[in-house]
Amino acid sequence: MENIFQPNAEFSKNAHIKSMDEYNALMKKADEDYEGFWKEYADEKIEWLASYDKVLDESDAPFYKWFTKGKLNVSNQCIDRHLAQKSNKVAILFEGDRGDIEKITYAELSKRVNKFANLLKNKFGVKKGDRVILYMPMIPEAAYAMLACARIGAIHSIVFGGFSAGALKDRIEDAKAKLVITADGAYRKGKPYLLKPVVDDALDKKIDCVEAVLVVKRNNEDIHWEEGRDHDYNALIGAESDECPFEPMDSEDPLFLLYTSGSTGKPKGVQHNTAGYILWAQMTMEWVFDVQGDDVYWCTADIGWITGHTYIVYGPLAAGTTTLMFEGVPTYPDAGRAWKMVQDHKITQFYTAPTAIRVLHKMGEDEPSKYDLSSLKVLGTVGEPIDPPAWKWYYEAVGGSQCAIVDTYWQTETGGHMISPLPGATPIKPACATYALPGIMAEVMDADGNAKELGETGLLCITKPWPSMIRNIWGDPERFKSAYFGDAKKDGKPVYFTGDGANVDKDGYITITGRMDDVINVSGHRMGSAEIEAVVTEDDYVAEVAVVGRHHDIKGESIFIYVVLKSEAEKDMKKHINDLLSSEIGNIAKADDIVVVPGLPKTRSGKIMRRILRSIAIGEAITQDTSTLEDPAVVGQIEKAVKEA
Ligand code: WT7
Repeated sequence: MENIFQPNAEFSKNAHIKSMDEYNALMKKADEDYEGFWKEYADEKIEWLASYDKVLDESDAPFYKWFTKGKLNVSNQCIDRHLAQKSNKVAILFEGDRGDIEKITYAELSKRVNKFANLLKNKFGVKKGDRVILYMPMIPEAAYAMLACARIGAIHSIVFGGFSAGALKDRIEDAKAKLVITADGAYRKGKPYLLKPVVDDALDKKIDCVEAVLVVKRNNEDIHWEEGRDHDYNALIGAESDECPFEPMDSEDPLFLLYTSGSTGKPKGVQHNTAGYILWAQMTMEWVFDVQGDDVYWCTADIGWITGHTYIVYGPLAAGTTTLMFEGVPTYPDAGRAWKMVQDHKITQFYTAPTAIRVLHKMGEDEPSKYDLSSLKVLGTVGEPIDPPAWKWYYEAVGGSQCAIVDTYWQTETGGHMISPLPGATPIKPACATYALPGIMAEVMDADGNAKELGETGLLCITKPWPSMIRNIWGDPERFKSAYFGDAKKDGKPVYFTGDGANVDKDGYITITGRMDDVINVSGHRMGSAEIEAVVTEDDYVAEVAVVGRHHDIKGESIFIYVVLKSEAEKDMKKHINDLLSSEIGNIAKADDIVVVPGLPKTRSGKIMRRILRSIAIGEAITQDTSTLEDPAVVGQIEKAVKEA
């Protein structure tokens, strides 16, 4: 008998979706009347300032439009409309690295966001449609900045604080941002670290579009100050009024850009728009995390990633819940930090990545038992497939075998969850994302759009547009079409390709098997092999390079680099290349393995056979036909080099 975990019956009674019957009824409704299904939620969840005329406009597919001509504002959705009922409820519960705590109620959040919005408008002339870069630590001001942009219709683009000056510069320039918001620094593992110097470095590389830098003083470090360009948030904010009317935005006005890696070329500016995004962010908060009443919800992601956008800021606040924002790391000062925080704040939903679960498990198998974790109701995971041992520990040791684990499958591009158990309804198979959420039409296909047989692994596709889907790649509509929509059609409409592999079992359960393209998933962070290769190729010592992902027990995957050198070389190529990656992209791009090889396995047409390189990296026997290689002997030489490295 397969392991199946039934939802907790007590929990189900009160859940948003209480049973599989309810789930099936919702799916049936979506199937029979797709637009009617979405209309019902749009009418219920969104405070429309002007009503929309069409639910879904498919006339320019795949440039879909949702709720056309409707008017709304996301900061109203997240703040103002809650004030009558919830002004004294905590909106953001902040815990600093050093244990400092701040509780920001909805009323207080409203004031701070209004002031921030006024500052953006009055001091920096930020207008609707302008792009604003956020290079911020995990402090409440990051959320205020996001909501302030949304309030006045500016488009934010957050760059994760772990990215280097080079990566920051590329993103600023691609978005043509006029303002950069940052902090002097913040605290991590008990020590201050700095962010502002990275912004200085990025702007030193001559960027014409940026007019000003707004600096939040988090730890009052000594930092370089460029008179005329740099502005002190803490000194300026006091003078601004705490009333700033929100801009009525069109349903399809852009809300934010978020750059992510693809299988080719430079990072793509994924564009999310207003109405569809905020609708699905709120719906999935309710369905998947089942937030209720006085729940205190904690997602450990960073706001620099999509998880932080949708499930720390927009989703929780749109749902009117209390969201915990944490500056530090769950393993500092010790392996009990996260569990102590769950106990202290009576966390009800805890959402993290498999990597973090594996680290916490390794550091303290019994650690959770030292704390009272009885407040927990739902545990979530995201970012990469979770392995059964990690799942089991999470379920038993953290959840006390009482909590549903929602293994949420989604992407930067999908805006919100796509495939996930519903905690009060879905019987769970460990380490399986289970079923597509109501309204999401997922299918496993081949590249031509033919459905795969049960049990067969194929490409995971979404066959109908959904409200929170990516709308465009900033400035590159052609790439948007080619990156996500092949030639495959269903009912005459293009099919969205996720880039992930999946299979469906006899019960209809979907298991994600991992990326099918050249994207490497390191600790749940996406890295394109092409992006890393582009940096390494530029190096003077390097003739050729190929980058693959390799299984890693904690990180899921790690980066493995093969380099062919020109005649001369640096003594320590590994350090040399990792330093380069760290300065051009950031520490997250550093490789665990860098091996110098005499050549790469290429076909006669010059294509690098990465499958062979992946096999060699994990020491697996080569099963592919190597006779089509330009030089079959190179395979043995590479194997030898890897063994000796
Ligand atoms: C890629 C998206 C979505 C937020 C975090 C990452 C992988 C995501 C799961 C899961 C297996 C998963 C996929 C996907 N992924 N969630 N539950 N099970 N794989 O966002 O950086 O856009 O990466 O993460 O490969 O395509 P992202």
